[in-house]
Amino acid sequence: MNPVPSPPPLDVEACALAPVAAKAAPSAIVIFGATGDLTHRKIVPALYQLAKQGRLPEETAVFGYARRPKSDLEFRAGLRAALEQVAHVRPVHAEAWEKLAARIWYVQGDLDDPAGYARLRERLASVPGAALLEDRALYYLATAPSFFGVVADHLATAGLAPGNQGGASRRLIVEKPFGEDLASAQELNRALHRAFPEETLFRIDHYLGKETVQNLLYFRFGNSIYEPLWNRRYVDHVQITVAERLGVETRGDYYDATGAARDMLQNHMFQLLSLVAMEPPASLDAHAIHDEKVKVLRSIPTPSSEEILAASVRAQYGAGTIGGRAILPYRREPRVQPSSRTETFVAWKLEVDNWRWSGVPFYLRTGKALARQVTEINIVFRPPPSVLFAAVCGAKLGRNGLRIRIQPNEGIHLQFNAKTPGLPAIQRADLHFRYGEEFARYLPEAYERLLLDALAGDSTLFTRRDEVEEAWRLVDALRAAWKNESRADLPLYEPGSMGPEESDALLARDGREWQPVHYD
Ligand SMILES: NC(=O)c1ccc[n+]([C@@H]2O[C@H](COP(=O)([O-])OP(=O)(O)OC[C@H]3O[C@@H](n4cnc5c(N)ncnc54)[C@H](OP(=O)(O)O)[C@@H]3O)[C@@H](O)[C@H]2O)c1
Repeated sequence: MNPVPSPPPLDVEACALAPVAAKAAPSAIVIFGATGDLTHRKIVPALYQLAKQGRLPEETAVFGYARRPKSDLEFRAGLRAALEQVAHVRPVHAEAWEKLAARIWYVQGDLDDPAGYARLRERLASVPGAALLEDRALYYLATAPSFFGVVADHLATAGLAPGNQGGASRRLIVEKPFGEDLASAQELNRALHRAFPEETLFRIDHYLGKETVQNLLYFRFGNSIYEPLWNRRYVDHVQITVAERLGVETRGDYYDATGAARDMLQNHMFQLLSLVAMEPPASLDAHAIHDEKVKVLRSIPTPSSEEILAASVRAQYGAGTIGGRAILPYRREPRVQPSSRTETFVAWKLEVDNWRWSGVPFYLRTGKALARQVTEINIVFRPPPSVLFAAVCGAKLGRNGLRIRIQPNEGIHLQFNAKTPGLPAIQRADLHFRYGEEFARYLPEAYERLLLDALAGDSTLFTRRDEVEEAWRLVDALRAAWKNESRADLPLYEPGSMGPEESDALLARDGREWQPVHYD
């Protein structure tokens, strides 16, 4: 049998900002909702990858908590079977899995039953090496948000929350969605804070765990050539696209109650916007970074309903095909209301009203059943002065642009103009940087990085309370404006397109257009 591989070595030229081997201390990881999809598809595969790479402390003990009766062996077998289905994990390394599996246990209980927490407490104290794990726990709430406060309170009653003993080494990870509007997010925060102080709360936005999203900070502040241009003097506008190729699939009921603005804009897209627009932080400390990110959101004044209706587009997908596959119109998807007014596409023009960005529009768009599965940020620079080339070529002279591809095929592309060989003509050219080509190394999955950071108590890549609430302020205003709008039906767009005509018109009114989505 192959030996368990060790963590990837650091490239000789790389400068380490933090210890490369896991900083995480041994801990008990308790997953609430352990028989669910997220546990099987994301959380346990991430733990397995970390264990395989030697990045998870060996004493780590994993406890699954859910209602279904299961033995430890049955639970482990189910996790192993699911692991085999995860593309980036296959084939499962038997020795690495067995080593981790031997430290996985199952506790049966209802999330609202104190007896379950008593069993959990007993189990935590009785597994081999329990003494080492005392006071050190990472609770992962892979459950509906309605249980967040319930679990936090029961953990406190059972003496398993911070404050009883151990302080900040008892931490809680919560999944999205974090509320459905500002009021419910504030209520959730209050409920969680009853037992878990802010520094022990880790709100996941898995986008922040992606290497290319983290690279936004490294790219902007680890170089001196871009930052002088990163402002209203040189940047004409910014585009952020998060496009999904799939429709709502089997999640019609969740999606119909949520919509694109709450599902994607409030969290992932505002996080990307914050990272693109933030000022340099005073340090790489989590607080310093959160402070700068939240300032960006605070610099976006709440627009009036009239302003929002003029600057936003919402739409639903109609009938069509994507890649030869028939797509039902959104309203006829399973578990979607036939009269639904839930948006599957949103585009919104926003302004960050601060010294750096005043007057620079940020165009955001996201939707389902679109042409590509792609997340991309485009920084579009102002045209050169209109002498020489610009005077002759007008709009045919391409804009300088920086295209930051978050996923897939992660990379950065610089667009500039160059002489057409052999002709007195000028045309657009590209400089490409692709992660996969430049660094032939494994790009860790977002959940791997996030779990490791939560175990180490580093909240940099999680969202802070005020960030969440500021983002809700804006999305609430958007949805309130839409709600009061008199139109009967939403515009439709063709599946496999990049959204409705109205989205193109939003930019065309400003003399701009969405950057083409490349197939690289
Ligand atoms: N799946 C994803 O990719 C994903 C991505 C982002 C966010 N999320 C969020 O993460 C959460 C979990 O998602 P999921 O897809 O894993 O959901 P899921 O497949 O429906 O799993 C829900 C889990 O909660 C447990 N549960 C439900 N009610 C319970 C109760 N009263 N007591 C004890 N356990 C209970 C269920 O187990 P029993 O039935 O055995 O009790 C199951 O293990 C949701 O809030 C979802 O929005 C999921």
